[in-house]
Amino acid sequence: MTEPITDSLEPGAGESLLIHSAKSMPPSIAQDMAKLKGLLKEGLKPNLKPASDLRILNLACGRCDEAETLVTVGQELAPKGHVEMVGADIRIREIRQAREQHAHLPAKFLIEDATKMDQHKELGDDFNLVFLRHQNFWHGQELWKKIFDQGIAKLRPDGMLVITSYFDVEHRLALRALESLGMEVVSNTRNKASRELSDAPGKSVDRWVAVLKRRV
Ligand SMILES: C[S@@+](CC[C@H](N)C(=O)[O-])C[C@H]1O[C@@H](n2cnc3c(N)ncnc32)[C@H](O)[C@@H]1O
Repeated sequence: MTEPITDSLEPGAGESLLIHSAKSMPPSIAQDMAKLKGLLKEGLKPNLKPASDLRILNLACGRCDEAETLVTVGQELAPKGHVEMVGADIRIREIRQAREQHAHLPAKFLIEDATKMDQHKELGDDFNLVFLRHQNFWHGQELWKKIFDQGIAKLRPDGMLVITSYFDVEHRLALRALESLGMEVVSNTRNKASRELSDAPGKSVDRWVAVLKRRV
């Protein structure tokens, strides 16, 4: 198990995006994003095959606080290429917020039932990264297994799937479900700097970040 890193905002590709982000969000969320950025870089750099262009699918993205973080990490992993992110969530209000908040990004946000992504052939199945932040497996195991399955089907053969979890048992169960769908954990990090949630003992923001690939 790798140790988490608490990343400060490093200069480099996409820094201006993060400065934009940090200005427009509460400090606690900006700090969560800086930590997430470090963890994503640590988990993805050794595992994600270098690509000229990078496609990211963010399922159940909500209002997508993580949009700039993901795009910035993508730009650092594919510095000469084009990065595109597609976010999808079933909640109309959150997707509208995401569209307003992140209009400056190379991203689009879809109102979609993520259990039915296979109906959207035009999205393609060549995403380098499928991302699910704060997945809710505990609250609907069958539903979330379907969402995981749909996400896996959108991955390139060498693509990576990332989940983050807010509590330990849920993370373990989600990983077990992903393994039963043919995935293999390549990196699993306990974010020890993760922000505790005062109203939910044992839960903290992006407490776990796991990177998975298809089992061969
Ligand atoms: C815990 S929230 C996480 C949101 C966001 N990823 C974040 O980290 O803030 C779980 C999200 O799953 C979404 N969701 C639940 N069922 C869904 C479905 N069938 N299709 C798409 N999104 C769904 C909810 O609308 C909610 O935004």
